[in-house]
Formats: sequence, C-alpha cells, structure tokens
Amino acid sequence: MKSHPYHVIAREERPKQSFYNGGILLVMMLGLMSCSQKQDFDLPKKVTFNQHVAPIIHQNCSPCHRPNGGAPFQMIAYRDVAKRAKMIRDVTTDRYMPPWPADPHYRSFVGERFLTEKQIAMLAKWVDDGKLEGEGPAPDPPHFADGSMFGKPDLIVPFRDSILLEGNNLDKFMVMKVPFEIPRDTFVRLIEFVPGNRQLVHHMNGHLLTYEFDKKKDVFEGKHVVTDVNAAINETYKTLALANDDGTFPTLTPSISNYLPGVLPAIYPEGIGSYAVSRKAAFLVMNMHYGPSPVDAYDKSYFNVFYADGPPKRPVKEWILGTFGVSAIVPPLVVPPEKVMTVETNFTVPQDVSLLTINPHMHLIGRSFKAWATTPNGEEIPLISIPKWDFRWQYFYTFHQMLKIPKGSIIHAEGIYDNTLNNPNNPYDPPITVVEPLSRDMKTTDEMFQFIITWLPYQKGDENVSLEPDVRLFKQ
Ligand code: HEC
Repeated sequence: MKSHPYHVIAREERPKQSFYNGGILLVMMLGLMSCSQKQDFDLPKKVTFNQHVAPIIHQNCSPCHRPNGGAPFQMIAYRDVAKRAKMIRDVTTDRYMPPWPADPHYRSFVGERFLTEKQIAMLAKWVDDGKLEGEGPAPDPPHFADGSMFGKPDLIVPFRDSILLEGNNLDKFMVMKVPFEIPRDTFVRLIEFVPGNRQLVHHMNGHLLTYEFDKKKDVFEGKHVVTDVNAAINETYKTLALANDDGTFPTLTPSISNYLPGVLPAIYPEGIGSYAVSRKAAFLVMNMHYGPSPVDAYDKSYFNVFYADGPPKRPVKEWILGTFGVSAIVPPLVVPPEKVMTVETNFTVPQDVSLLTINPHMHLIGRSFKAWATTPNGEEIPLISIPKWDFRWQYFYTFHQMLKIPKGSIIHAEGIYDNTLNNPNNPYDPPITVVEPLSRDMKTTDEMFQFIITWLPYQKGDENVSLEPDVRLFKQ
C-alpha cells in the first residue's frame, strides 16, 4: 500500500490561508506575485463591473450574499460590491471566499465553489484600477426565490413559536417537535431547513415521524420544545407527546434533514431517496443547537418541503464511520494539550456499493481530513481531502456521478487534530485535553471524528448516473 504524504505536502505548498493573521504577509505576497509570477492568462485592459465582475460575483458570491442567503451582507448590485471592494479582493486572493474547504484537484464535487486564478486576478485588477462600473446597462441580478435555494416549496412548516434564546453566552441544546397536517398522504423528495436566526442556529438534525391517520387524534398536542437535553429520552418523548394515542410509536425516518453552516441539502435523482409522508406528521428535531449570545434573541426557523412524484425505487442508506459509528477510531480520540495528533478509522465495504454523498465531521481543533478507498486489487479511489479544516463549512459533498466502491474495499479516513495555540480556533487558552463526547448531547468544544457516507446497493450502470441537481426541481 502506498503511503499518503498528501496532506503534508499540500500544506507546505499552499500559501497559509489565514486571512485574519496574514494581512501584512498577504500584501507582501501579492506584491511579489505581481512582479515575479508570469500569468498564463490575459486580462482585459479595462475591467468593468458590468462586463467582467458581475458574472463572477453573481455566480459565486450572491447565492449566500443576498437577503436571507446566510452571509452577513449582500453583494448583487454595483454599489454593494464597490463598497467592499478591497475586502473582496483580499478574501478571494486568500481563497477564504467562496468557502470550499475540499481540494478540488483531489476530488471534484457537485456545486463546488472556487474561483480560477484568472477570476481572482480579474477581481483584483478591477479593484486596483478604480472599480469601474462600465458602460451599458447593469447585468440582470440573479433570481433567488425567497427563503429557499430550490425555488417554491410545496409546503412550508414553521416552528410553532419563536424560541427565546437567553443572552447568557451559553450554547443551547434543545429537542423539538414540529408537527403538521397535509390534505393527503404523499412522498417527499427534498426537505430544506431554513434557520430563522442565522447568526445563532448552529446545527440541526431532523427526523420525520409519520402517523397513521386513525392512530393519533391531535399531532399538535403536548409541548413542542424540551430544553433539558439530559432528560431520559422516554421522558422527552412523553413531554412532546410523540406516541400514538394507544401508546405505540409512529414510523420514524431518520436524518431527513441536516443543517450545518453552509450545507446544502442533498438532492438525488428522481426515484432515489424519496420517502413517504402521511397526512399527520411531525419533524422530530434532535440536536437543535444554538450558539452563545450575549443578548436575548429569538429564532423561528422553518422547513421547506418539496414533494416527489412517487415512492422511492431505491431508498438511500447511510454509514457513519468514527464517533458513534460502525468503525473504531485509532488511537482513541483523546487529544492532550499542546499536541498535534493523527487518528484514523477503517471500514471494510461489505458489498458492491454506489456512493452518493460524503460528509467529514470534526469540531474546532480539527486541522485536516482525508479519506480514500483501497480496492481488493490495491487500486486507490480518492474520496476527499480537506487540507485546512474549517469548522464553519461542513458540506455534504455530492459526487458528480455515483461512485462505485467494490465489495471488500477498505475505506480509510484520517484526521489531524491540532490542540496547540497555533490553532486559532482552539477554544481553550491554555489548551486542555479534548475528548469525544460521552453522550450524544455534544458541545462544540468536545471533539468528533466522523465520516458519514450515503450509498445504495450497486446496480450496473450506476457509475453513469449523474447526481447534478435536476433543473426541474428549481421551479423559479
Ligand atoms: C456558501 C455561502 C457563501 C458564499 C458562496 C460566499 N460567501 Fe462570503 N461569507 C459567507 C458568510 C456566512 C460570511 C460571514 C462569516 C464568515 O466570515 O465566515 C461571509 C463573509 C464574507 C466577507 C467578510 C469577511 C470578514 O472577515 O468579515 C467577505 C468580504 C465575503 N464573504 C466575500 C465573498 C465573496 C467575494 C464571495 C464570492 C467570490 C463570497 N463571499 C462567497 C458566506 C458565503
């Protein structure tokens, strides 16, 4: 088996990507680059917003930098962009924006956002030459449906009440029920969680409960929020009145919606991964996690639901490697202070499978993540490399086509943790021993090492099935 020095090399070759610490260094580097590095592309003499800059911004920045897009300010019209021109030049040169931690040369994914060298140079030249607006009409602003990345949902299911988030600077964890009734039983293709308070909603993992119509009179009864996440799970379920009237439990479909900063929900081709939803149903939100706030604040989030044409022909399956998962972490994830430590986990694939999405997960002291599969013939299949882990951007990465992994292959995942003060995200100064959470009610300051994989049993021809989002779903 070959060794994997990749992440080490990658780190040394890359300019240090810390925008915040590297301001002066960055300016020096830019200076050096412009004198010494010959560019292999030509830029127009006159770079203008209308002609050159707007298309780059609209494509790569506006999806988040728009009203309700998740980013702190909008970037659509000339004025928005010109106002922050220098900052835009710096964050793009530094590759801090658009956020895409995965190395696109190791493995390319659906929807990846990164700028080419030419695009970065184009933005810089525009700023340096005086932010020209350009002749002619401004290009049409991109259209985004309000509150959704995917157009108009068939159904919107809001939290019943605004949640008060006390200004006590503490993380908050809650379990919630978000019930709803619809006119008929149907199938759902996509559920999109839209946080109300984007500053404070940190992450959410939601399941779906479906009730047989006659078995539950009132899906809205009981409390909708439980703030004591240490309560026994049975007690919590009782408080939320989740059971049927006869005490039996409704059908639970796990993990139908996950929200983490910057994560888009996965969209699969028609017939894959849709699931039934009945007239009476509820989202069961485990692990609703709000970040700390110094002042009282509120959140009223909601779910956008998009219907499917029918039942799934191929239901999606999931493996979790590492923390709470099917494979052990070696050595155990206990990171002493002042130490940089590598852990790994290995999982043998029990049958021919087709991978759909992957999601590496670590917390604050994660430094890099890499995963690949080794087939029984010794062939290596790259899965993902994140040379510089960024806690804020934890995508579910979707392969362009289904990726076949043959039976007997070993999936390796490797994570490096940096518990020194060189890690600007270290939550403790001085550093303390960081461990995996003992229960599922974890805190950001605990550590995790997870590699989540969604997959299907392999069928002939899967490697040609595209996972690019189906444009029909984008009903604008
Ligand atoms: C996936 C969503 C997303 C995309 C795409 C995106 N941004 Fe951002 N951007 C954010 C969020 C969220 C923040 C605030 C949090 C942060 O700074 O990490 C941010 C912050 C910024 C900031 C402020 C940085 C600071 O230090 O205060 C700038 C400038 C910026 N983005 C520019 C851009 C530009 C230019 C692009 C396109 C080339 C872009 N962004 C694309 C989500 C996005």
